[in-house]
Amino acid sequence: MIPIDFSGKVALVSGVGDNMSFAWYIGKALQQAGAKVVLACHPRVMGIVEGLLASKQPDDTEARKLPDGSEFAPVKLFPCDASYDTMDDVPQEVRTNRRYAKFPEYSIKGTVDAVAAEFGGIDILIHSVAFSSEIKKPLIETSRKAYHDAMGISAYSLVSMVRAAAPHMANRPGGASVVGLTYVAGERVVPHYGGGMGTCKAALQMDAKQLSWFVGDKNVRVNLISAGPYASRAARAINPDFDKLIQHAAEHSPLRRPIGPEEVANATLYLCSPLASAVTGQILYVDCGYNVMGT
Ligand SMILES: NC(=O)c1ccc[n+]([C@@H]2O[C@H](COP(=O)([O-])OP(=O)(O)OC[C@H]3O[C@@H](n4cnc5c(N)ncnc54)[C@H](O)[C@@H]3O)[C@@H](O)[C@H]2O)c1
Repeated sequence: MIPIDFSGKVALVSGVGDNMSFAWYIGKALQQAGAKVVLACHPRVMGIVEGLLASKQPDDTEARKLPDGSEFAPVKLFPCDASYDTMDDVPQEVRTNRRYAKFPEYSIKGTVDAVAAEFGGIDILIHSVAFSSEIKKPLIETSRKAYHDAMGISAYSLVSMVRAAAPHMANRPGGASVVGLTYVAGERVVPHYGGGMGTCKAALQMDAKQLSWFVGDKNVRVNLISAGPYASRAARAINPDFDKLIQHAAEHSPLRRPIGPEEVANATLYLCSPLASAVTGQILYVDCGYNVMGT
């Protein structure tokens, strides 16, 4: 047996919005493998995630279950808005907004530094964040502002997170690992994936490759998973008929079925583990093979 054992490792997981998020499944899998899981959630969803972690509703309890019967229990939640590198970037109207005003710190650097200070460094960093305010508009109708904002939140945030985390991830025992989430629309035309998100994923993919060089000398690896379509909250916002898109992908994939979020989580475990110690700057497709098809 070749075990994946993350005992003693600290995993900072961004992008949990609810218990359907890829990041939720990734966090569960990392905990199951022994890691101490810390969540960085958008300030607007902190209450939702705290509620889902504490809820006694049978569905919510079920969603927290791990295969050994224990429950998903992140050691701490930090608020983090991936739009801001430091608190100096936060405009006044955001600072005073009721969803933000209760938090003294929610920038990328502030969050990453606070996690590293409290938990003694970072071994695993998960970037599972994406947003475009005009996701429903095709690229050709997307405004300049929405396009730039989407790029900042969905692509540049990886650069910012890796910059902030690199000193805390440098030369950890066995090395450290960053994993982000991308989509086939970063390299092929997917007309319904609007608001500039296809461009964001293309940028994210090139940034991950470049970042692998800039942190590789510290034994930090940077990889992306290109996931097949899956009906998370963000995905449903793209199109109310998202289930039809999933069905189309399933019918046109070599495995002839949709992906499950656990499969993305399992691939993340592999990428963070010593089994992938020479793998960096790569995109791993977890899409039932959909990306190889010509239809
Ligand atoms: N669902 C799919 O079909 C699919 C396919 C391929 C890749 N992905 C990618 O997977 C990742 C996770 O998406 P998901 O499908 O789990 O959806 P999700 O809605 O559960 O996750 C997206 C997360 O981004 C967070 N977010 C948005 N704006 C933010 C900001 N300014 N600061 C901090 N966090 C912010 C949201 O709070 C949410 O938690 C995204 O990068 C997405 O593009 C999704």
